[in-house]
Amino acid sequence: MHEPRIIVALDFSSAESALRLADQLDPRLCRLKVGKELFTATGPQLVEKLMASGFEIFLDLKFHDIPNTVANACKAATSLGVWMVNVHALGGRRMLNAAREAIEPGSTKLIAVTLLTSMNHEDITDIGLVGESEQIVARLAQLTYDCNLDGVVCSALETALLRQQFGNEFCLVTPGIRLHHDSIDDQKRVTTPMKAIADGANFLVIGRPISQAINPLQKCLEIYNEMGIFL
Ligand code: C5P
Repeated sequence: MHEPRIIVALDFSSAESALRLADQLDPRLCRLKVGKELFTATGPQLVEKLMASGFEIFLDLKFHDIPNTVANACKAATSLGVWMVNVHALGGRRMLNAAREAIEPGSTKLIAVTLLTSMNHEDITDIGLVGESEQIVARLAQLTYDCNLDGVVCSALETALLRQQFGNEFCLVTPGIRLHHDSIDDQKRVTTPMKAIADGANFLVIGRPISQAINPLQKCLEIYNEMGIFL
């Protein structure tokens, strides 16, 4: 059995909707991502419930605060027993080091987001960052790597370059995934599962193509099929 490469984004506002989708999925085929909206609405109880059904959870709360607070938040995530948690690389070296020290390597995976893909050139300039977004992403990914975090969330466009830059041990988690016939929704740039995996992504974050499919489990299988992975 292969390790599940798909992480299904539970972008919902209620536990009922999230559980309804989880009930149609299989923990052998996918992990689940719980983000700010769902976690704020439902708390750790839902995460525990999903884990009790066998799912591994990526807690996508993008911690960004003073080092001590982030370290304690990371410890709380580890105690909850989630598979993966993330922080903002923009929180800086001391914050990243504190997060790393709080989570024993080999337990909960600790990754960082670099630059949010929603930020355009004007947004970047507004906050005083200098350079093109590619350079800023590369710099923040390097900082994440230097602080011994396990990997980064990266856009499909960055995956190949980051894989080259950091070798095979660094974990790359890539959203913006669509099959050829899927709607791209509000994503600006998308890539296919096969291309993302070929570029070096370890895990694919996929939301609407699966959550809005008539048969979400079948859709997961279709995605693996497109990647050339037969489960
Ligand atoms: O529905 P869709 O597949 O577009 O959902 C993608 C998921 O990945 C959402 O939860 C979104 O917030 C997240 N994400 C993203 N782009 C990033 C980082 C995270 O789409 N750069």
